[in-house]
Amino acid sequence: MSFSPWRLTVAPMMDWTDRHCRQFHRLITRHTRLYTEMVTTGALIHGDQGRHLDFAEVEHPLALQLGGSEPADLAQCAKLAQQWGYDEVNLNCGCPSPRVQRGAFGACLMGEAQLVADCVKAMRDACDLPVTVKHRIGIDRQESYEFVRDFVATVAAAGCEVFIVHARNAWLDGLSPKDNREIPPLRYEIVHRLKAEFPQLTIAINGGIKDDAQIAQQLEAVDGVMVGRLAYHEPWAMANWDARFWGAAPGVQSREAVEEAWIAQLQTAWEAGQPWAPAMRHALGLWNGTPGARRWRQVWSDHRLKTQSPRAVQAQATAARLAGATPRD
Ligand SMILES: Cc1cc2nc3c(=O)[nH]c(=O)nc-3n(C[C@H](O)[C@H](O)[C@H](O)COP(=O)(O)O)c2cc1C
Repeated sequence: MSFSPWRLTVAPMMDWTDRHCRQFHRLITRHTRLYTEMVTTGALIHGDQGRHLDFAEVEHPLALQLGGSEPADLAQCAKLAQQWGYDEVNLNCGCPSPRVQRGAFGACLMGEAQLVADCVKAMRDACDLPVTVKHRIGIDRQESYEFVRDFVATVAAAGCEVFIVHARNAWLDGLSPKDNREIPPLRYEIVHRLKAEFPQLTIAINGGIKDDAQIAQQLEAVDGVMVGRLAYHEPWAMANWDARFWGAAPGVQSREAVEEAWIAQLQTAWEAGQPWAPAMRHALGLWNGTPGARRWRQVWSDHRLKTQSPRAVQAQATAARLAGATPRD
């Protein structure tokens, strides 16, 4: 059986889904498609391309998410995505941050469907990768289904075949980005309706997905599910994804095995002069939900230990976790 490549994905998250995070996630799920943090066209065109674009082979399948609204700039960046070996290039039309709005991209682009269509066309002309769009169901108090339907129709006419829909509005007038991921209500039925009306398009749903049962339920109505905060905060929630959603052998057998592989990687990097803390911060949720998890996390977060080797800290963290797990504690 062949699955849509968008059947299950981990969301782009600024400051979180950097290459360390993605490599950690790969130890838990081999097949789930991963996304970079959003990279702006300005940062790519004028900045350090290697720093923004380099990744490890193991991260495939991997999409680069771009932020921008100039077709020519986006085309140039889509070309870079292909040169660097990404599997997809995704345009962010869902970010509500004021900084992004000043640059006239992100969620405010939903009010400019024809511009998004022009961007998509330019990107498609510049590369052979799938060009996909991530967006909301509306902006501000615009709650009609027709608004998002017309957006999708216009962008699809430019050749976009994959839409990842965060199933809530973006309120651009005063909510912080964090509140904009929590306060506007989720309306999954709007996304289901899009799939029903555009059966030929790949429609993936995003927002508030809490467990495998919800993923399975959504897959009955749409082609794919994108998971953000759950994957980041509770990485072990991905442990069954390869077997359950990709029809593959489970990649890992235990949290111990993931920890072992991860710390081995950090140790090798540390011996080559890399600090381990910027990578380890993404793994702090590994033991969540088990006895002693908090103590394990506390040891890894202790600033005084940052100069010790990963193996040395692991020994202390494991001892703390096992001690924390005893009834006497
Ligand atoms: C810390 C953080 C950073 C985010 N950065 C981005 C981003 O760069 N691009 C983007 O399209 N969405 C971004 N998002 C939104 C997520 O991709 C996703 O749409 C949102 O968290 C809802 O999904 P969830 O409920 O599964 O977390 C971010 C979310 C969080 C929590």
